Amino acid sequence: MKVFLIAGARPNFMKIAPIYRESRKHDVDCKIVHTGQHYDYEMSQAFFDDLEIPEPDHFLDAGSGSHAVQTARIMTAFEKVCEKDRPDLVMVVGDVNSTLACSIVAKKLWIDVAHVEAGLRSHDMKMPEEINRMVTDSISDLFFVTEQSGVDNLLKEGKPRDRIHFVGHVMIDNLFYQVNRLEQGMKVQPAVQELKQKYGEYGFMTLHRPSNVDSRENLMTIFEALEEISRELPLIFPMHPRTKKMIERHGLELPENVVALDPLGFRDALYLWKDAVVVLTDSGGLQEETTALGVPCITIRENTERPITVELGTNILAGCSRKGILDAYGAQRSCRTEGRIPPKWDGRASERIWQTILK
Ligand code: UD1
Repeated sequence: MKVFLIAGARPNFMKIAPIYRESRKHDVDCKIVHTGQHYDYEMSQAFFDDLEIPEPDHFLDAGSGSHAVQTARIMTAFEKVCEKDRPDLVMVVGDVNSTLACSIVAKKLWIDVAHVEAGLRSHDMKMPEEINRMVTDSISDLFFVTEQSGVDNLLKEGKPRDRIHFVGHVMIDNLFYQVNRLEQGMKVQPAVQELKQKYGEYGFMTLHRPSNVDSRENLMTIFEALEEISRELPLIFPMHPRTKKMIERHGLELPENVVALDPLGFRDALYLWKDAVVVLTDSGGLQEETTALGVPCITIRENTERPITVELGTNILAGCSRKGILDAYGAQRSCRTEGRIPPKWDGRASERIWQTILK
């Protein structure tokens, strides 16, 4: 059986790593397709190295562009690959443009599609990821789900129950694997080690959603909150290229105690955030990873497609206003949220995925 495993953007790489590793235990020909949606060393190759993913079998070199341009480039290139090296199954992960583009191409060539991290819904159609999730799920054949809300959403949308598999979360498989690697003495960059020693107590922050960074006004409001927080807690901030570009374009300056860095590889970032006092983020994955390790998290968004992190985990959904962010910070500082680990987030999701496919 030949399976294409699709990855294109940074959050995909963490998800394909454990799926690929697990595939080696079975009689499957699992090939990695990298669409090239992310291409900078820090956004792509650094992750392949850290996560121990082999070189991709196919590289589509799509690069950046508007949504239509990027999606179209991936589709055109992926169609050629499928025609030359036809797989039995295309496995897509998450909700980025690469996920959408490759599932449409596969389906139109009558190739089955499995969606890993299916069923999540923010109900916010202004998020490109929500559109990607909904379209991908509307044509997928197999749904691998990370939390109960995903099962409920898919059933509500009329998907057959026997196609929906609540397997847990491959992102958490990767996280536990990498925490072990750190404990076994795997090295991080000396500069990152020095940073941790220098600050001791610090917050860790990521910010890259278009809704937060593309508008000057929204970004300024967030910076006002960060200014106050960072007066008592320095914030370490590896910066996404989109955010860096927007800060320059808007002519804004980061608050004084926000320590900006270039994007970090997976292990360097984990090394920092796992011991942070609090994580502030608008990423999807970090909401889940902080819940899995019990690190307090503040999500700078109005909604989340990952409600389990709020219901069971350590996440507070702060919204994007100055007051919302400061209130959430106050709450996390005065009474650290004691979270629980969600069901099936036990590091064995990839194992369940292959068992299901091979059955
Ligand atoms: C994409 C995903 C988002 C995910 C994020 C993680 C979609 C719709 N969005 O958003 O869900 O959370 O990745 O990073 O798929 N750029 C570089 N170098 C790179 C990649 C991008 O400089 O290697 C810059 C380019 O200027 C580009 C911009 O970042 O225009 C945005 O990249 P893009 O892939 O379009 O979206 P992300 O914001 O990264």
